[in-house]
Amino acid sequence: MINIKTSSEIKIMDMANKIVNVVLNEVGKKIAPGIRASELNEVAEDVVKRLGAKPAFKGYNGYKYSICVSINDEIVHGLPERNKIIKEGDIVSVDFGAYYNGYYGDAAKTFIVGEVSKEIEDFVRTAEDAFYAGVSQVKVGNRIGDISCAIQSLVESRGYGVVRDLVGHGIGTALHEDPPVPNYGRPGTGPDIINGMVLAIEPMITMGDFRVIYDKDGWTARTYDGKLSAHFEYSVAVVDGSYYILGIN
Ligand code: MF3
Ligand code: CO
Repeated sequence: MINIKTSSEIKIMDMANKIVNVVLNEVGKKIAPGIRASELNEVAEDVVKRLGAKPAFKGYNGYKYSICVSINDEIVHGLPERNKIIKEGDIVSVDFGAYYNGYYGDAAKTFIVGEVSKEIEDFVRTAEDAFYAGVSQVKVGNRIGDISCAIQSLVESRGYGVVRDLVGHGIGTALHEDPPVPNYGRPGTGPDIINGMVLAIEPMITMGDFRVIYDKDGWTARTYDGKLSAHFEYSVAVVDGSYYILGIN
């Protein structure tokens, strides 16, 4: 069932996502060679607490941390552990969720550490471009498959892969709500987009094969072929027939 939100609910979710994006930016400022992923988790916990919200991932299905830190071939849900140390040339996806006033916010960004090749820069930029290609399809009259298709088309036209096994999602009083928002699909399919929907749109892209394998930790999703992966996410509301990206204004 798709939960439709009122404008006052969307205002609260905008605030939840502002908190998420402040946390991501504060974590991003700390990302540098030598820092431990566990230290980034501490930064996130300090900042979210200071802003009067709760980390959404901590305790979610038994997850022990407040952020996910997914480096290089790790796609998503990488654990911010002490022995995970960031180095020059890495690409680091940080995913964070906040719980504020009964509502969730969820966003992610991929940060580049120091100098990388133009090839890698273009790749990481494509994850962000894919988000914007998807969000531009968020309008009343379109369907979820239009978002999916726009993301897939952009990513594949640049020669990259789109992950199938993990998808975007509705968000609200639960972190994951209906509808699923795949990053691949056919236009004109799936649920109708209507005012009051809130969607977490989150392309996960790969430099090679789109297939996923999971680590023994049960969380870390990484590319099957060991090639790089990048991830970009915002929560987006449907307002007055069009999209409103939460937490960035
Ligand atoms: N943002 C992540 C997603 O939408 C949520 C991660 S929950 C965690 O898949 F428990 F893995 F952290
Ligand atoms: Co999400």
